[in-house]
Amino acid sequence: MISFNEKTNTFRLDTPDSTYAICISRGWIGHSYYGKKVGDDDLTYLTRCNDFFGAYTPVFREKHTFLDFFPQELPTEGLGDFRESALAISNSENRNGVELKYVSHKIFDGANPIEGLPAVFADKSECKTLEITTFDAVLGVEVVLVYTVFEKINAIVRHTRIINKKGTAPVFIKKALSACIDMDNQNFDVLTLHGSWARERHIERHPVHLGKQGVVSMRGETSHQEHCFMAILDKNADENNGNVYGFNFIYSGNFVADAQLNQFNNLRVVMGINSENFCWKLNPGETFNTPQAVLTFSDKGLNKMSQTFHDLYREHLIRSEYKKQMRPILINNWEATYFDFNTEKLIDIARKAKENGIEMLVMDDGWFGKRDNDRSGLGDWTPNEKKLGCSIGELGKEIRDLGLRFGIWFEPETISEDSDLFRAHPGWAVQVPGREPSLCRYELLLDMSRADVQEYLISIISKVLSESGATYLKWDFNRNLCDKYTASLRAERQGEFAHRFVLGTYRVLENLLTRFPELLIEGCSSGGARFDYGMLYYTPQIWTSDDTDPIERLSIQYGTSFFYPTNTMGAHVSASPNHQTGRATPIYTRAAVAMSGTFGYELDPNKLSEEEKESVREEIQLFDRLNPLIREGDYFRLTGAKEDCVVWEVVSKDGAQALITAVYTQVHPNQMVHYVRPQGLLPEQEYEISLIDNGQTEKLSGQEKALFLTEKTMTGKALQARGIYVPNAAGDYSAWQILLTARY
Ligand code: GLA
Repeated sequence: MISFNEKTNTFRLDTPDSTYAICISRGWIGHSYYGKKVGDDDLTYLTRCNDFFGAYTPVFREKHTFLDFFPQELPTEGLGDFRESALAISNSENRNGVELKYVSHKIFDGANPIEGLPAVFADKSECKTLEITTFDAVLGVEVVLVYTVFEKINAIVRHTRIINKKGTAPVFIKKALSACIDMDNQNFDVLTLHGSWARERHIERHPVHLGKQGVVSMRGETSHQEHCFMAILDKNADENNGNVYGFNFIYSGNFVADAQLNQFNNLRVVMGINSENFCWKLNPGETFNTPQAVLTFSDKGLNKMSQTFHDLYREHLIRSEYKKQMRPILINNWEATYFDFNTEKLIDIARKAKENGIEMLVMDDGWFGKRDNDRSGLGDWTPNEKKLGCSIGELGKEIRDLGLRFGIWFEPETISEDSDLFRAHPGWAVQVPGREPSLCRYELLLDMSRADVQEYLISIISKVLSESGATYLKWDFNRNLCDKYTASLRAERQGEFAHRFVLGTYRVLENLLTRFPELLIEGCSSGGARFDYGMLYYTPQIWTSDDTDPIERLSIQYGTSFFYPTNTMGAHVSASPNHQTGRATPIYTRAAVAMSGTFGYELDPNKLSEEEKESVREEIQLFDRLNPLIREGDYFRLTGAKEDCVVWEVVSKDGAQALITAVYTQVHPNQMVHYVRPQGLLPEQEYEISLIDNGQTEKLSGQEKALFLTEKTMTGKALQARGIYVPNAAGDYSAWQILLTARY
């Protein structure tokens, strides 16, 4: 719902549980309110204008004083608002300052796509869009603030459109963030995600302090280190209580998400493309679109925030035919063979995998060019028939004849110095002339801003897909972007490079998906360094981390679950002891953790014991059975990720079924039983409680057997109030899956 009150000059943007209010004050676009849904009240009193000096001052103080105080929707640089700005533009004589004044607005059903960028989509009945047009008369630049508001989801999606409308000369956009929210600090905390390779998206929470705090990436991608998300939440907010504002970004390159608390206890949160080294030349008549930022509000804690993000993604950002479908259960040969494989080995893995119920074989790194280690071959996407022992077409056919789908690994945006591609096109590699390039994993990046590079990739990848019959592509990206220079742009445009790199990647992905509509692309970046809504628009699942240890994955998948639903998280059962940590864990625990993702295997099935093979068959049947629940249900974190017993739950949207998963990181002897309180159940409904057989049930105590193995029922109310205990009989790293099924 979007409305405009002409008397108060106020816009109201309502989602089911939130209200967002914007005012026009002396032509400036101000922010009045964002939070819990309110009635028809006049909220203009919230738009503080620094006229509190009352009798001593006229109502409107001079421009500088006003601007440095006024809560703004899109604060600009150079005129007197000294907080973090969201927009900076200079003219061709390098004169700074942007002054945006209201011109007009329009409200319409639905949401418009943004050319070249990923964006939410929806039917006309599902959302409304407000466009507020503003204009800077000195620059001749029009800036349109765009807000899409969802009818059934507590999300608002924002971006801006900048047009050099009436200028006769180019202007230079030096900063173009997508969103800004000015709030009164109500003793808030700030929550962000940080990590490293194999330790992605661990949460960090601390009280908001004066000055700036936030997360950034200058790595050309979202990064392992910091994630493009921020939540501002009540000090006492927890998973199920309290107000939480969540912000995320539909983009895959350099970003900034900053919260700045200032002298007046005003908290300004901004999000957008990182402006360091950014400068975009906009010729007369040209348009620049910023990527979309997603704003959510929850009045019931972090779980509700996550469910909002999950619903938004599942309904309005996944485009592929996999939107409502189970993804194929795959086996990937990386941890089984690394670079050392041929067709015989792959077929051997595929055959055993098929016997156990797996549906797809993914051939990972090493099948092309000269590539027996990570020092050479990237860019030469010609199958190495000598190594494989046959053509890729024959390999694909053999796999399909076994009844499996075929998937292939690529790392399209990179190039090895030792490759035919580099020898033929050294200028395609990203490097600064005269400077030694910064190699990473022995590789350079391809200049994705170049149309000829994009065309090369589209054509070579299409060729391999057509010849092999592959219907899945693992799209990897194993380094960061530095040495930022492109020969394809003039000096004054070099500041466009990092963004053009991302746009180039999006263009190649879009093209491939148009040519191969059934193609399922799984994103990857040394594990989960590019896990973001931008990539998820093209690649509906992303490899969450190179760390496949289920105990490490508890923290990684926990942090990822703050924004991303289970069906986006690539998660595999790998060998034990684990290759990253050396930790030994039971196969059923590895499976229970991987089931909260896309689920697959990454091991040599020939090395499994008979008992483990039996377990694999059962796990696959279980995942098949529970897939609609896990894929579509509401996700609840029932504990933190660093507990002795880490527990989470998925509840079907109708409340009829719930799966609780619990993993013991540490069992203590002679201790009180561990209770968890499920969420999201129907209070009056009777639920049958059953424990999934993980081969450990004979270890249960008599009381545990009485609860779990006797078709006992309890009401949703009782389960949620008193909780249910988790058996602790099977020791460290044991996992239990408890199913609650409504008995009608
Ligand atoms: C990255 C990926 C791995 C694997 C290797 C292959 O590290 O995250 O899954 O594909 O590359 O080189």
